[in-house]
Amino acid sequence: MTEDMVLPAQHQPVTVGEPLLEVSGLTKYFPVKGGFPVRRTVGQVQAVDGIDLTVRVGESFGLVGESGCGKSTTGRLITRLLEPTAGKVSYRGQDITHASRRELAPIRSEIQMIFQDPYSSLNPRQTVGKIISGPMEINGVEPEGGREKRVRELLEIVGLNPEHYNRFPHEFSGGQRQRIGVARALALEPKLIVADEPVSALDVSIQAQVVNLLQEVQRELGIAFLFIAHDLAVVRHFSQRVAVMYLGKIIEVGDREAIYTRPRHPYTHALLSAVPEVSLTDDGDSAGRERIRLAGDVPSPISPPSGCRFRTRCWKAQDKCATQEPPLLRISGNHEGHLTACHFPEDPTTQARDEDIVLDPALAALEEEG
Ligand SMILES: Nc1ncnc2c1ncn2[C@@H]1O[C@H](COP(=O)(O)OP(=O)(O)OP(=O)(O)O)[C@@H](O)[C@H]1O
Ligand code: SF4
Ligand SMILES: [Mg+2]
Repeated sequence: MTEDMVLPAQHQPVTVGEPLLEVSGLTKYFPVKGGFPVRRTVGQVQAVDGIDLTVRVGESFGLVGESGCGKSTTGRLITRLLEPTAGKVSYRGQDITHASRRELAPIRSEIQMIFQDPYSSLNPRQTVGKIISGPMEINGVEPEGGREKRVRELLEIVGLNPEHYNRFPHEFSGGQRQRIGVARALALEPKLIVADEPVSALDVSIQAQVVNLLQEVQRELGIAFLFIAHDLAVVRHFSQRVAVMYLGKIIEVGDREAIYTRPRHPYTHALLSAVPEVSLTDDGDSAGRERIRLAGDVPSPISPPSGCRFRTRCWKAQDKCATQEPPLLRISGNHEGHLTACHFPEDPTTQARDEDIVLDPALAALEEEG
């Protein structure tokens, strides 16, 4: 960040729908150390490799992909918990990529994070009141009527009893603890919440309740969300736009309808069909059929496959896929804003296939035997 950069004033009004967070070419490589007796860098974990995304004011943006594909690293780069290797992060038009703590101070309160594990993310020795008022204390914020009044209001907003102000985290269930985490994230009236798998650690029956709460918060308080999840089912009812990540790259992005009803990337097809539809609405419909089984692990991000990183698991891969990396583009047949990185994309439909596609030969052999 340059010395003369002007950071946005706190709580400056913004117009709904304009870009809030813009990320371009964002990259994070972690060094891999090895050797004895002198430990040297012997490789790089290409955790996030040149991603672009924009989250608009008040919008919920879903970021989805299998374990290890770089979702949390992306969240931590955006919230500046990690320093990027390359690329740019802009918040409300201001470059914050390398902003110092002091330079970030005016916008720290506007970007909050909700973590996956409601057990480890709350200090067990602090009361709920202390936990939720923590961000106000750190940032020296004194709301009208005092911090305690504000905490009680927040407890009410997240569906907890305001009288539980003096209780400790262990007195609450997992779902209730995640509500406390949500209340803490709301304490400073943020404009953007990065929610890293906020329901993955909860029982399925509780997940819907917490997703519904987040949805209410997003709609009623106009807070933008970057909602990180490992499957498409969780973000389905929550995100207006969705990006699918694979091995450090965004391989498809579009509005909800495009991703769920006209996906083009084979990996998006696989994610949609490999995860049985888990309805997160209260009217509960859990229909859905497994058609593509994505077996095996994501390859190592230390030496990802050449060309298209999905090629080692792709049923459509051809020679070109090994030599040329497919750019993320609006390919023929895609509506505006729907981008796909694939040389041989699927037809724009999720209609049932004639046969199951099994991506792992070992699994196929087992099935034949069985
Ligand atoms: N501090 C670190 N040092 C080295 N490697 C790291 C570090 N943090 C993450 N990684 C590696 O970067 C890759 C991406 O990790 P990340 O946690 O971002 O993935 P994720 O998509 O959030 O996965 P999960 O679904 O398991 O949470 C992984 O290979 C991981 O091992
Ligand atoms: S570029 Fe090739 S390997 Fe990659 S997803 Fe498309 S068809 Fe599959
Ligand atoms: Mg993660």
